Order: sequence, then C-alpha cells, then structure tokens
Amino acid sequence: MVSEGGGGTTSVSVRELMLRCPQCGATTSGGTMQFRCACGTPFDRPDASFEPAPESAEALRARFHGRLSALGGSARSGVWRYRELILPLAEEHIVSRQEGNTPLYAVGAGERDGWRKIGMYAGLERLFLKHEGENPTGSFKDRGMTVGMSVARALGVRAVACASTGNTAASLAAYAAQAELPALVFLPGNNVASGKLAQSIAYGARRVNVAGDFDDAMHQVEEVAGRLGIYLLNSINPYRLAGQRSIAYELLHQLDWQAPDWLVLPAGNLGNTSAIGAALLRAAERGLIARVPRLASVQATGADPFYRSFASGWRDFAPVRASTRATAINIGAPVSYARARAVVEATGGVVTEVSDDEIFAAKAIIDRAGIGCEPASAASVAGTRRLVAEGVIVPDAHVVAVLTGHLLKDIEQATGERPAGEPEQAEVDELLRDIHQALSS
Ligand code: F0G
Repeated sequence: MVSEGGGGTTSVSVRELMLRCPQCGATTSGGTMQFRCACGTPFDRPDASFEPAPESAEALRARFHGRLSALGGSARSGVWRYRELILPLAEEHIVSRQEGNTPLYAVGAGERDGWRKIGMYAGLERLFLKHEGENPTGSFKDRGMTVGMSVARALGVRAVACASTGNTAASLAAYAAQAELPALVFLPGNNVASGKLAQSIAYGARRVNVAGDFDDAMHQVEEVAGRLGIYLLNSINPYRLAGQRSIAYELLHQLDWQAPDWLVLPAGNLGNTSAIGAALLRAAERGLIARVPRLASVQATGADPFYRSFASGWRDFAPVRASTRATAINIGAPVSYARARAVVEATGGVVTEVSDDEIFAAKAIIDRAGIGCEPASAASVAGTRRLVAEGVIVPDAHVVAVLTGHLLKDIEQATGERPAGEPEQAEVDELLRDIHQALSS
C-alpha cells in the first residue's frame, strides 16, 4: 500500500485509505464517490490513516523548509510542500499549478507603511493578512482543488462537478482543464460575481444555472453527481478539505512556527473553518507549534446560521434563507456545520457576525491600503474589528486574518467612482490644475 513517491517520502493509494463517519462510526473506502454516510453525515478522513511513519517535529519542519528551494515538481506548491500532513499522493497523479505560496502581509498599527491603516482600523498593533486571493485563480479554493482534482485523476473518474457561489467553480474549471476532465458547475441563477463567472466560462466548464440559491444548487449537484457517477468536488469531499489545511500550515511556517493568538476567517459553507481548525489542532498534536491559536469564524448577518447556533450555546442549529451582498458567503445551510463546530470548540474559538455595511467599510480600508480583496474576504477584518471592540480579542494580541478572494473577482462591488463616458479635455486640464495645487501646498 505504501510506496516511495515524489518529494522524498512514501506515498499512499487513495483506494486503500479509509473514510470514517464521525457520527455513527461507519467506514468506507477512500476511493468512494459517495461522501455522505447512510446516516447523512459527511465522512471524515482520520489523520492516522494516511500520515507516514511518525517523524519528529524538527525533522518535519526541516523537510518542509527544504522544499522552499525546489525549482520544479509539486514541492513548489504551497499545498504539496506539506504533503505528509495533507495527502502523500504519488507525484504522477498530482495536478498542480504551484498554488498557495501566498503572502502574509504585516498590516498592524505598529508597522511603518500605509498598510498600518488596516491595523488601526481593526484596533491591533500586530495584525497579519494571509492573502489567499493571490492564488492562481484568485481564491483559496485552489488549495483544496489541487488535492481534489489529483485524487479524481488517481481514481480515473470520467467527470467532475461542484455547486458554487463562484470561486469553487472557477477553480474547478481551471484544474479540470489541466487534468483534461469534463467539468460541470452548478451556479445560483443571478447571484455570481462577474469575475468568477468569466473564469468558469473561459476555462470551459459546462454551466447549470440553478433557479434558486447556493443551497438549492448544492442539493441538486449532490443528487445529479450521485445519479450520473460524476465526482463531486465540493468541500463535502474530504480531499478538498485536506488541501485547504495547507493555509494553516503555510502561515505557521511563515511565522517560523510561532503560533498567533487568533486566526480569523470568513465563513459560509464552513469548509474552510473545518479545514483550518483541523490543521491547527494537528500541528499542535505533531509538536509543530507549542499551542493552538483560537479560531474566530465570521459570518454575514444575512447568512448567519453558524453564528446563531454559537450564540445559542450550540443548542440549536437551523438553516436560514441567506441574503448578503457578500455573494461568496451567501449560504444558509452549511454542509460542514458539525466539523466546524467541533474545531471552534476544540480551539476555544468564537463565531461572530458582521453586517454588510461593516463588511464594505472594512473592504474600503483594505482596498485603499493597496491590498484589496473581494467583499466576503473583508468579513475577516470587519469581524476582527468587532471582536477587538467587544474585548474578546485584546489589543496586544497577535492576530492573522485570512483574505479569501481577489479584488477583481467582484468588480461590481469594488469601491470608488467610475468614469462616466468620454472625458472632456477641459475637465482633464482642471483636474490636473487641482492636483498640481494640492501637491504644491
Ligand atoms: N470567502 C470566499 C471568497 C469564498 O468564495 C467562500 C466560499 C468563503 C469565503 C467561505 O468559505 O464556504 O469554506 O466557509 N465560497 C464557496 C464557493 C462556497 O462556492 O466558491 P467556506
């Protein structure tokens, strides 16, 4: 089952892995096309089922660090660099475009340049932004997609599909083209940002416009994929989540394995909260970090079933009809609720919510600092500000907030004015006189 593979460690065969239902304990093959147990709960992939023989934390850190100098192959990827903790797949199956490797921007109020305005806005001296919008297709989804698509190829599936608010579809379309697999994307009718839609079309995916929202699209794709034997690449697929874990491993690596106090991220379908939480816990178990950062999951007020559940002391959980202008997280029935709840509890984390106005105010600050992001991403900074104001995060805390998508994904919502029509030369001259005056005063 275990053989020598690329990247200098052993590799595993996906079919011989085991998936386990966290609810009832039932198991299934890692090569399954069916990601829900008969009891309805999504299967998990137990860590011990794939990690190669235990290596010391020091040896593991040295191995990861050594790969930073790789010139080619999957070791160049900010996902596969951490393959021992993600999925040690043989090199020949890997579909990668050097995803990850995203910057960690120091934007605390204590920094020297214009980025400090973001820290001042949030009320933090030590704030970092992990910009996942700087991935190949402009969102964090590429991290999960490289792993999911590689597994699809290893299994020899005939087609892949997902439901999406836009980013997963864009990523799926790009990686499917690379893997030479037909791709089907189920999108909520009129509610996908134009940049994301343009990507899906350009990369050649077949679109199904669903009458309804993301939750309806999710429901339909699960049914259709099951019926037609198409490989589902939503975050219900545990290999997608495995890839998304690398956000945490890479940012801890960038911090030289000094864990921050908090990790803050936007939350919709809750795949990312689950994956990042699981990675933080695993990093501590493997001795890579000395303590587990607390997770703060941020929802938009119009799409907040996870927040409501948290606020009820986890007593209730009820899906909602979602309505937020941050379309990426316009989700009312999150698939990974149970997984996300487990990791928020295990890290001593919190869930909060922010209004669309708070999201767009934070986005304007991030955009004007020259960094930029799509609306949903700004929920992490808006949520950080709120948690600092409420005293949940103390002002001298060391905080990393994740920006999940690129500014150009959603240009309809980009801040600022747009030029209307052809400019007149007289107007241009006047503007230039104003600028000259402003600069010489
Ligand atoms: N931020 C962005 C930019 C997203 O696209 C998403 C999810 C999230 C945050 C929330 O992450 O679902 O793991 O809690 N987008 C999915 C999609 C739903 O279809 O692209 P989550």
